[in-house]
Amino acid sequence: MEKIIGANLKIYFKDKKEFKEYAQTLIKEMDFIKSDSLKVYVLPDFLNIPQASEIFKNTKINIGAQDLFWEDSGPYTGAISPLLLKDFGCTLVFVGHSERRRYFNENDYILNKKVHACYRVGLIPIVLIGETEEERSYGLTDIIIEKQIRIILNNLPYDFLKNIVIMYEPVWAIGKADAATPEIIEKSFKFIRKTLLKIYDKNLSENIKVIYGGSVNPSNASEILKIKGADGLGVTRSSLNVREFVKIIRIAEKI
Ligand code: 13P
Repeated sequence: MEKIIGANLKIYFKDKKEFKEYAQTLIKEMDFIKSDSLKVYVLPDFLNIPQASEIFKNTKINIGAQDLFWEDSGPYTGAISPLLLKDFGCTLVFVGHSERRRYFNENDYILNKKVHACYRVGLIPIVLIGETEEERSYGLTDIIIEKQIRIILNNLPYDFLKNIVIMYEPVWAIGKADAATPEIIEKSFKFIRKTLLKIYDKNLSENIKVIYGGSVNPSNASEILKIKGADGLGVTRSSLNVREFVKIIRIAEKI
């Protein structure tokens, strides 16, 4: 089964040069990857996407965006058109990172419109779901996950949904010293697939890609990737240093 390993670079790079060096080092360090069972993606900030698409051209690294707007064009000041993301070489896009919910007031209904935009223009959404610490403390984890899946994926064609990626990223596990425990991750993975089975069918529930994000590093990557139903990892802090990111990629290659 193909494993997906991705870097969400947020806005950590402070100029074009810094990003360029990062991207060029990553290409060199990734020379070893021959396997077709690994899909590596990088999500630069929007302004570095044009140079990312030049630098990563004809390499095994896929480029994506951290967000998109739900309309293709029109009077939407400051928005990012999904059509332009495609035109600049993005194949993937995050939909619903918790930082978008927290700082930009995104909600499940907005995210549903964004997934529809992905469908329309042909981008693969990486749909982020997961509970906050407060929701977990009230025992609402499963309810939140089910609600997010039902609303965000509402009214989309089955053939499109088969190829999307779901990223379980509990909000309380982002930016911490360690990831959620393998027990917690496994339980949520199971619940996500169970919910997909309830709404769709066995085929979709078993074959859709489900990955984990939240404080992934080279020390915990292996145990997370070994969890039943784990198709990959989403990383930020440990992806900012190329060597550390490549360590995680190598771990995934071996599993
Ligand atoms: P960290 O890997 O820094 O915890 O961030 C996770 C994240 O937000 C990935 O989307």
